[in-house]
Amino acid sequence: MDQRKSPFNLIGKNIIVTGASSGIGRQCAISCSMMGANVILFGRNPDRLNDTLNCMDNISNHLVYSVDLREYNKVEELIKEIVFQKGKMHGLVNCAGISNTLPLKMITPDKMDDFFHNNVLGSINITKFVTKQSSFSEEGGSVIFISSVMGTVGESGKTLYGLTKGALIAASKSIAIELANKKIRVNCISPGVVETPLSQKAVYSQNEESLTKIKNYHPLGLGQTDDVANACVFLLSDASKWITGINLFVDGGYSAR
Ligand SMILES: NC(=O)c1ccc[n+]([C@@H]2O[C@H](COP(=O)([O-])OP(=O)(O)OC[C@H]3O[C@@H](n4cnc5c(N)ncnc54)[C@H](OP(=O)(O)O)[C@@H]3O)[C@@H](O)[C@H]2O)c1
Repeated sequence: MDQRKSPFNLIGKNIIVTGASSGIGRQCAISCSMMGANVILFGRNPDRLNDTLNCMDNISNHLVYSVDLREYNKVEELIKEIVFQKGKMHGLVNCAGISNTLPLKMITPDKMDDFFHNNVLGSINITKFVTKQSSFSEEGGSVIFISSVMGTVGESGKTLYGLTKGALIAASKSIAIELANKKIRVNCISPGVVETPLSQKAVYSQNEESLTKIKNYHPLGLGQTDDVANACVFLLSDASKWITGINLFVDGGYSAR
């Protein structure tokens, strides 16, 4: 089938992917390029951002920005520059994030602050600037927040991580309602455990017994980055044009238990 006739194609769409220097965000950038998008890659580590770029189709169509999303004003300036260079945006994937396992008794105000800035405020801030009338296509488009199953279900030591991921699910529903009149759809994806540098550093990956326990929570086994990236492609494409305000579990059956 001619890719142009498929509602799943992203041909000519300008799509920003945050967290594109690693893991799920990296695969998301690669998969969007395979579907024809012009991708704007955000991350902090410039070398790893370039590694991602080198794996993408049509390398010259994409832009790379090394920036910490907590530099809120700088992000606003960059969005203006990107729109000047590429035209208005059609999509944003908020993938940047950090994780940890921390018992309640170890949580401090500083740690809460750090998690909120990295996992919530950075994403809400860039979403605000990308979806402005001056930045986003009049044809509409799609914003995705990568949440986690931990935003809905509980696990020991996941209070801090889960509360930031739950915040994204809650926020995305109100943003979906607010932006519907601009034809901007807003959805969350909640992955289970996906094999990435983030999950490989996690406490449960450090010993065989905990890892087996985590694997057993996933009837289809642990996820791969393309499992989440393919869901992003769907929610970015016109094939999902009647879907907004949802939280899509991509979790190998974790939440079915
Ligand atoms: N892997 C899983 O099992 C899993 C499960 C559920 C949800 N998730 C979520 O999926 C997303 C991606 O996870 P991953 O496993 O792919 O993690 P990863 O491999 O550690 O990648 C995280 C990415 O986020 C970027 N990042 C973090 N804080 C940032 C900041 N302040 N400013 C700019 N970029 C920042 C990192 O940039 P640099 O490396 O350049 O600093 C990196 O590109 C996260 O939101 C995570 O919570 C992951």
